[in-house]
Formats: sequence, structure tokens, C-alpha cells
Amino acid sequence: MTVLEKQIPSKHEGKNIVGIFIDPASPTLSPKMHNYAFKKLGLKNWVYLRFNVKPEQLEEAVSDLRNPKLNIKGVNVTIPHKESILPYLDGLSSEAEKIGAVNTVMTNNGKIAGDNTDGKGFISSLKEDGHFDPKGKNAILWGAGGAGRAIMISLFENELKTLGILNRTLEKAEKMAKEMPDHAITVAQADTKNLVSALKNCDIFINVTPRGPEDSKLFTPSVFVYDAVYGKSTPLLEAAKTAGSPCLGGLGMLIRQGALSFSLWTGQKPPFDLMREALKDHA
Ligand SMILES: NC(=O)c1ccc[n+]([C@@H]2O[C@H](COP(=O)([O-])OP(=O)(O)OC[C@H]3O[C@@H](n4cnc5c(N)ncnc54)[C@H](OP(=O)(O)O)[C@@H]3O)[C@@H](O)[C@H]2O)c1
Repeated sequence: MTVLEKQIPSKHEGKNIVGIFIDPASPTLSPKMHNYAFKKLGLKNWVYLRFNVKPEQLEEAVSDLRNPKLNIKGVNVTIPHKESILPYLDGLSSEAEKIGAVNTVMTNNGKIAGDNTDGKGFISSLKEDGHFDPKGKNAILWGAGGAGRAIMISLFENELKTLGILNRTLEKAEKMAKEMPDHAITVAQADTKNLVSALKNCDIFINVTPRGPEDSKLFTPSVFVYDAVYGKSTPLLEAAKTAGSPCLGGLGMLIRQGALSFSLWTGQKPPFDLMREALKDHA
């Protein structure tokens, strides 16, 4: 049996299957929120499965997506496959092409297309949950990985004025800045000295690394603090609260990117509220 075939329990055979390609060691909340929405919307013939896919199994996993017998309608794609899956796809949305990574894949008659809902998920959460509009604002991005790139693009699409990218590996920040030559972007090594200096002209600080800065003295009430990491709270959000800064965690982004993927597969309206309800214990 092939890599995905052996991960589809026989009770789900014949159903419309969606799921997530994920490293076997990583946790995910996605099956919980998607299956809750299927249940509440009465979509009894749909199920969302976790597919453990190691890097060396990715090509075989993608060819399983083309197998009509498995009836897989699409998958989410997460670390470490978001970029490495690109060569195996038949087409990309303009969003995925700009970001250079996919988080959602749709299958259609043996063809596979990639999209990316991370940027839209971030912006809609920032505006609607955080009541923060990036138009005309100055931002700092702490991190320069896949999520950082999606967020950078969505911020400029929403008329951000300037961006400072601070990253552990300076070359990655420089490469990211070069991708958007028409925008006001500065880069620096991610360290406390550079952060203190960048925060002097900053309306919003966004962490897109696994663990953001934790010193509350860094922040002031005039800086909005956003942590892409999701969970009940994080050391960064605790520091922001102590400093009196408005702040928001990444759960809203997770919910919104997931609801947008759900909509791409099923044609239904994105079930934001149902997915939020499914994850209420994690907020
Ligand atoms: N809320 C959501 O829906 C959502 C969606 C996607 C991601 N996220 C969060 O965003 C974070 C980044 O995800 P990603 O997809 O961008 O990952 P990624 O592509 O692997 O990038 C990771 C980033 O974190 C930096 N980093 C990793 N470990 C570090 C360390 N020990 N010290 C300092 N910097 C470190 C990396 O720096 P280098 O360039 O130097 O390696 C890079 O900038 C994840 O931890 C995840 O929690 C949330």
C-alpha cells in the first residue's frame, strides 16, 4: 500500500477525503476544526485526516493525490513541505506564486493546484479580531520564514508603509526584502540592540519565529504586538500585556486560513465561527 492509502481507515473509504501533510512529530489542531465544521454543517460524507509524510515520502504522497480511487479532494500542507511540494504541482494560484509556498492543495481530475491562504488568514484576523488596519503603518517582522513571507506580502497588499525585517539569519531577511524591491523594507540581524532601535518607529511588531522576544520593557502601549504562534498565551503576549500593548495571538490566523481552505475544497462559505467554536478550549 502507498503512503496515503495506508493512512486512510477503511471506515472512511468512499468519502470525500481532505487532510494535512505534516511531519510525523508535529502537533496540529487542523483535524479538530475541520471535522467539527463538517459535522455541524451536515457534510457527513467528508472527513479531514492527518497524513504523516516524511520529506522522502512527499513525491509518493503527491502521486497518491492523483489516484481517483482514494477520492482525496485536497490537503493542507505544513512544515516541512510548503515549498518542497512546488515542483510536483500542476498549477499555482497567483497568491501561492507570489509567496513561493503553498498551504492548500486542490485536486481535480488528476490535476493538482496549489494555493496559499496564510496571508489572507493573517490579514483578516488582524483587521477583524485585532481591529488593526496596516494601511499607512510601520511594521517589524521578527522572522523571515514561510509564514513571514506570506505576512509581508499581505501587509503590503494592504498598503503598509514601511517594514523592518529582523532575522537570526540575516541573508534570509535580505533575500526576502529583494523580492519586493518597490517597497520600503530594511533588514537587520535579530538582536536586542537592533530591535530596540527598530521599535522607535513602529506601529506593529509581528513575531513569526517559534518564540518571540519576552522582555516587557521592549514594548509600549503604542505598539501593537502580534504573535503568529498560537496557544492559550505565549511569553511574548505575556510581555505585551505587562507593557500595556494591544496584542493578538495566532489562533485567529490558524482558524481563518483553515476556513479559507475548507471553502476552496467544499465550495461552502468559510466557516470561521464554527472553527473558532471547535478551538474554544485553545483560546
Ligand atoms: N497562526 C498560524 O496560522 C501560523 C501559520 C504559520 C506559521 N505560524 C507560526 O509561525 C512560526 C514560523 O513559521 P514558518 O512557517 O515561517 O517557519 P519557517 O519557514 O521554518 O521559519 C522559521 C523562522 O523562525 C526563525 N527561527 C527558528 N528557530 C529560531 C530560533 N531558535 N531562534 C531564532 N529564530 C528562529 C527562522 O530563522 P532562520 O531564518 O535564521 O532559520 C525563521 O525566520 C511557527 O513557529 C508557527 O508557530 C503560525
